[in-house]
Amino acid sequence: MANRGNFTGKLGFILAATGSAIGLSNIWRFPYLAGQNGGAVFLIIYLACIFLFCFPVMIGEIAIGRAATSDAYGAYTKLGNKRWGWVGLGGVISGILILSYYNVVAGWTLGYFIEVCFNNLLQQPDYKSHFFSFISKASTNIACAFIFLFITAFAVSRGIHHGIERANRILMPALLVILIGLIAYSLMLPGAMQGVKFYLIPDFSKVNAQTIYDALRLSFFTLSLGIGGLMTYGSYVSKTDNLIYASSIITWADTIIAFLAGLMIFPLVFSAGVSPAEGPALVFIVMPEIFHNMGPVIGKVVGSAFFLLLAFAALPSCISLLELPAAYFIDQKKLPRQVVVWLLAIVIFLLGIPTILSQGASETFTKLSFYKNKDFLTFIADITDVSLTVGGCLMCLFIAHRWKIAKLDQELKQGNEHYMKSVTRKYINFSIVYVCPVMLGILSVLIL
Ligand code: PFF
Repeated sequence: MANRGNFTGKLGFILAATGSAIGLSNIWRFPYLAGQNGGAVFLIIYLACIFLFCFPVMIGEIAIGRAATSDAYGAYTKLGNKRWGWVGLGGVISGILILSYYNVVAGWTLGYFIEVCFNNLLQQPDYKSHFFSFISKASTNIACAFIFLFITAFAVSRGIHHGIERANRILMPALLVILIGLIAYSLMLPGAMQGVKFYLIPDFSKVNAQTIYDALRLSFFTLSLGIGGLMTYGSYVSKTDNLIYASSIITWADTIIAFLAGLMIFPLVFSAGVSPAEGPALVFIVMPEIFHNMGPVIGKVVGSAFFLLLAFAALPSCISLLELPAAYFIDQKKLPRQVVVWLLAIVIFLLGIPTILSQGASETFTKLSFYKNKDFLTFIADITDVSLTVGGCLMCLFIAHRWKIAKLDQELKQGNEHYMKSVTRKYINFSIVYVCPVMLGILSVLIL
């Protein structure tokens, strides 16, 4: 255990896990999905999904990691058997695949940051065509993805304490400061209140199956659940830490950041008279237009702060996605961290190339005939989303039927003396045994 590395104190773990949770999905995916699904109603359903289904799964995942003090594969084999180890290994592979495309999107944020600062992005005549032309340029995107992955690998190669913990201690507060600054600005704009109303006053006639499906899928992704990322971080947590308390903070922090991202974006969108249902491009097409309207100087400052914010949010998520497979090779194959991390980075970088080419540079990857003519990025995002929900479902079955709920209780009792008599215990056990496996099973089938 000593040479695996450990977080220093509660805060190190909470910040790293919160960093993993807070990411592009909070600032990019949550607002556009809320915009497409009626604003406030989406927010309410999303909150329900987070607390009803995701919170218990998170606790279960971190508890398994801490109980086993091992990577995801090692945890399943140690507490279960070799066959269960396949679930952990599936998670390790998913981590690699998610990072291969997530890093490309993170690269876009970096590219846009550089473009706003140095290339007059805000003077473009048409932001939509500019965005599509930007993502179709293979060389630019390869360079951006390379830089982003290099920074990620550098942090992970330095280990838990010096790399991951230190990066999160700087990035998380910086993110909050930029976000609050942008909210203050957006709320002062004319017409901002219309956006606030759209976001906070629910219209229940807008609820349909799609709203629930989108909210559930997003809530699972945003908390980084199901593939063992939090299990790996859990393996570095001290036995005296209260896992329920830590998980509540991570969940609340992630939810608050998503909420604040909506509070920043909808006033901006409404004050610019843009449709909130613009879709995935909301951030990259609508936001530059809004920054342009702010005038050359303020637009440049606010615009670059915004894209920097996105990059800051993405980095700790990338770090946790790389730590997941790295821990597997370090623990199971006894390889040195430096070697593992840089080799993984090379593989992930190469795996990301089809994603980059799928945005217009190559016809082969832009239209996949075997996947309803959708692009490779959509394909890989969909299959990895399924791996998250299938992984979460199997993890609940593992706790209920192999590891046993009594062992989970025992783990959660450490650092929390009132746990056995608490209502929280009843709620977690009931959710993990009955509610979550059923919901996640249904969701996995629906995504496919
Ligand atoms: N939670 C991250 C986000 O919200 O963008 C994405 C993510 C990170 C998913 C780590 C899964 C994971 F293991």
